[in-house]
Amino acid sequence: MAEKELTITPDRKRARCITGIDGLDTILNGGIPRGNAVLITGSCGTGKTTLSLEFLVHGALDDENCLFISVTESSIKMLNNVVPYEFFDDSLIDEGKLMFVDMPDIYDELDILNKSEFSYDEMDEIIDRIEEYVVKNEVKRLVLDSVTNVCFQLKSEEKIRDFILQLMKTLSSHGCTSLLVSEISPEEPRYSLYGVEEAIADGIIMMGNLERQGDLLRTLQVVKMRGTDHSRAKYVLDLTSVGVLLVPLLKGGGLEE
Ligand SMILES: Nc1ncnc2c1ncn2[C@@H]1O[C@H](COP(=O)(O)OP(=O)(O)O)[C@@H](O)[C@H]1O
Ligand SMILES: [Mg+2]
Repeated sequence: MAEKELTITPDRKRARCITGIDGLDTILNGGIPRGNAVLITGSCGTGKTTLSLEFLVHGALDDENCLFISVTESSIKMLNNVVPYEFFDDSLIDEGKLMFVDMPDIYDELDILNKSEFSYDEMDEIIDRIEEYVVKNEVKRLVLDSVTNVCFQLKSEEKIRDFILQLMKTLSSHGCTSLLVSEISPEEPRYSLYGVEEAIADGIIMMGNLERQGDLLRTLQVVKMRGTDHSRAKYVLDLTSVGVLLVPLLKGGGLEE
């Protein structure tokens, strides 16, 4: 039997997906390595949706096809509720650079909208639909907001692991860089609801709240990112009309944690 040839390509300089988010590309030494599936994790109101949308808007402005899959709220409602960006332009949507899909529409097409639990086959069908969309539209950046909400209908840890693994592998295989939003409760100091997502993800960006002198600050920390060196420091995140702004969390001067 002929021996299989093993080729290992040095991958030290993976192409980067520049997020366009102030500070984040510096934290990541040039951006997210292309094809990575990154978990954006945090409790409610920490800015996950806003940050994810900005990632897509910058991609669209850079002529990349971008897809936002909304699970719980309709995309239109979501768009009305996020910070209105000065650089956001409706023409990105009109030109098809920035696409929105509501997950319930996919469930409806698959006739599983009212099911409390999805089978393995139905789970595969959901991934196939997403893949078809990504391939057909040459999607290079994708956001799933949130993966936690899809997991509610998968129930078992095994199925959840399979879903996330398959989805990430599929997106990566098409060169798509993705942000999967993970909702956690503020009390629990963990990265994901099921504990399986973070082990599989190529990266974890942790968003949180920090109470300081009566103020509730938003924070961001890159915990893990395969394929690049990165800062692990905690940053203060500001949601503004010119986009997300990140500044290092100052040590000292009464601002110590
Ligand atoms: N139009 C707006 N102007 C300013 N701030 C806004 C606006 N819309 C939302 N925000 C801020 O963004 C926060 C919600 O961020 P979001 O990205 O939806 O968080 P998450 O997805 O983590 O729940 C709100 O708590 C609010 O402070
Ligand atoms: Mg949100």
